[in-house]
This record gives sequence, C-alpha cells and structure tokens, in this order.
Amino acid sequence: MSAPRPPPDRSCPPWVLCNPLRRWRAPPSKILAGCGPGPGETVADVGSGPGTFLPELVRRVGPTGSVVAVEIDPRAVARAREELRGDPLVDRIRWIPGSASEMRGIPDASVDFVLAYGLLCCLVDKDGAVDSIYRILRPGGRALFNFHCLDPPIGQRSRALRMSTGRWERLRARHPWEPAAKATGRWIRTECLRKPSGEPAPPPNRPDDRTVPP
Ligand SMILES: C[S@@+](CC[C@H](N)C(=O)[O-])C[C@H]1O[C@@H](n2cnc3c(N)ncnc32)[C@H](O)[C@@H]1O
Repeated sequence: MSAPRPPPDRSCPPWVLCNPLRRWRAPPSKILAGCGPGPGETVADVGSGPGTFLPELVRRVGPTGSVVAVEIDPRAVARAREELRGDPLVDRIRWIPGSASEMRGIPDASVDFVLAYGLLCCLVDKDGAVDSIYRILRPGGRALFNFHCLDPPIGQRSRALRMSTGRWERLRARHPWEPAAKATGRWIRTECLRKPSGEPAPPPNRPDDRTVPP
C-alpha cells in the first residue's frame, strides 16, 4: 500500500496580496528598509507570489545585483509577469518554478539575501524550505522570514500548514542562525536572521558556479 500523500501547499488569491490597502499599510520599501538587500547583492524571493516585492528588490540591488523569484504556483508566476509587463526591471528577474524545499537551480552559498515573506505558513515541508534557504545563503547572508500563526489546528491540512511560536523555534533551531535585526510580532512574525560568517564555504571546483546566472 502506498504512503498517504501529504496535504498540498497553499496558494493565495492575488487580490489578497496585490491590493492598495496592503501597499499602503505595508509597502515593500518599508518592509525591506531594515535588513533588505543593497547594491550588487544576489537575492532570492522565495514564494514570490504575484511579485509584490520584486520591483523593489530589483531596484535595491541595482544593475550589478541579481534577483531570482522562486514560486510553486504557475498562476502566481503568470500574475507576477502580468503585473510587471512593460517594466524594464522584469528583464533582470530569473524565474525558478518549483518548491522552496528544493531550489535545485540555485547553487549552495550563492545568495546574499533571501526573502521568505508569507511563505512558511503556506507550505507543508517547512523543514525542507528552511534547510534549502540556509543552503543557498552565503556565509554572512541574511534571510527575512515573515509568517502568521493564525491557522487553527483543525483538520489535517490546517495542522500541516500551521505555524506557531513553538514550531518556528524548532525550525529556527535547525541551523546556527544569528539575529540580524530585532524580531517583531507574535501572531504575525517578522524575523531577519544571518547565516554565521564563519560557516565553511562549499568546496572549490564544484560543477555549480557560486553565482546565480542571470
Ligand atoms: C502568502 S503568499 C506570499 C507571496 C509574496 N511573498 C507576498 O508577500 O506577496 C505565499 C506564496 O508562497 C507560495 N508557495 C506555497 N508553497 C510553496 C512552495 N513549496 N515553494 C514555493 N512557493 C510556495 C504560494 O503559492 C504563494 O504565492
């Protein structure tokens, strides 16, 4: 008998994420002001959804930086492309369809800044996602996590998706993160963490280049 399939990850209707109220209450420029990326950095927007943060990320890294957008839901990718149509910034984004817990197209220790905004409360394989995020970060790189703890523990799917303070603490403890900025929120939590700069770099001469190609 085959093993039961895990419940599916959650996608979000674009109107929840792309609306004037959200842009006014929580503009990407404000959210990224604390520990967001700077010029020349390499960025991965993991769970990029309809592209809310992509223009601001591309602007911040400038012409010498690069941005990859990782998203499992093809409808969200299509929406993001539609939202950014005609914007020359879109040409500087590399799209990686697929799951945050794999990200095979992104080499180890190749990214300066990971944005995981609203991601962890949408996917089932949270350990895998946090491990992959840690894997792709360079030593000294930062990850900005945001998630809510609002799913009630009712039903298999809700339990699988549910974040809580305890679950976050266990996820965070999988790696020796250092705080990069003051954490905020209890029910809607935002935390910026740094991979220690003393972490050994991957061995040289690996077949995968350490930079993310355009
Ligand atoms: C709450 S939305 C946030 C989108 C965007 N970061 C924002 O703040 O507007 C979460 C996104 O994560 C995506 N997602 C869910 N499971 C995923 C997975 N396993 N890998 C990559 N993306 C995933 C969903 O499709 C959705 O677009």
